[in-house]
Amino acid sequence: MKHVVVLTGAGMSAESGIATFRDSGGLWEQYKIEDVATPEGFARNPQLVLDFYNQRRKDAFVARPNEGHIGLAQMEAEYKMSIITQNVDDLHERAGSSRVLHLHGELAKVRSTANPGLIYELTPDKAEIHLGDKAEDGSQLRPHIVWFGEAVPMIEEAMNIVQTADILVVIGTSLNVYPAAGLLQYAPTRTPVYLIDPNEVRTSQSYVHFIRKGASEGVRELRRLLRNAL
Ligand code: APR
Repeated sequence: MKHVVVLTGAGMSAESGIATFRDSGGLWEQYKIEDVATPEGFARNPQLVLDFYNQRRKDAFVARPNEGHIGLAQMEAEYKMSIITQNVDDLHERAGSSRVLHLHGELAKVRSTANPGLIYELTPDKAEIHLGDKAEDGSQLRPHIVWFGEAVPMIEEAMNIVQTADILVVIGTSLNVYPAAGLLQYAPTRTPVYLIDPNEVRTSQSYVHFIRKGASEGVRELRRLLRNAL
């Protein structure tokens, strides 16, 4: 079976009603990154940060996988599929994808501020954390999210996965944020790349086949192209 490695970003979940970051009306037009997505912001005003993620978590819990998520999950019948996502929602998993690596953390999880290994799962009926909610080690709970300036613990594993790709697919990411965007360079030379995005995305990558469509229609076209190519 060919190994298809898929790198997804916020645009993958746009058709599920979850806001992207850098499109017009995106999250970074409504909030300042330094206030809600950095350790300094959390130290300065922890309740603002907790509320920001509480709201995004509740939005993600009510969102549903779109045809793009479902199409990728269905591809597991034809290919070895590895999803590397920058997204913190669990829509890939809920669509049925079995191998999903979250580079930037997961909204459904929270963790001790003192010990990153102490991780807890939230549920739709227990979707919020507040100041004073503590881990078993007595420290304040925080979102299990990689903030700007923090290490990306899964990046090594992601590099290893990309190095074994027969086909690389990029869906719904502006390729603005590193190290995630740098993963493309780890694909073996001449690996075909399919980039699904309704807007233009600049990349220095070669062998790119642009599919200028949204995730749902784009994944349908991708599956047709791969069937004809292989
Ligand atoms: N289908 C596919 N792609 C879409 C759709 C859609 N329906 N709608 C928008 N897009 C595309 C946009 O054109 C854009 O290229 O999704 C991309 C979203 O880009 P960003 O908002 O920059 O999101 P992303 O690339 O995932 O951001 C990376 O930045 O803020 C950090 O940690 C955050 O993981 C995030 C990282």
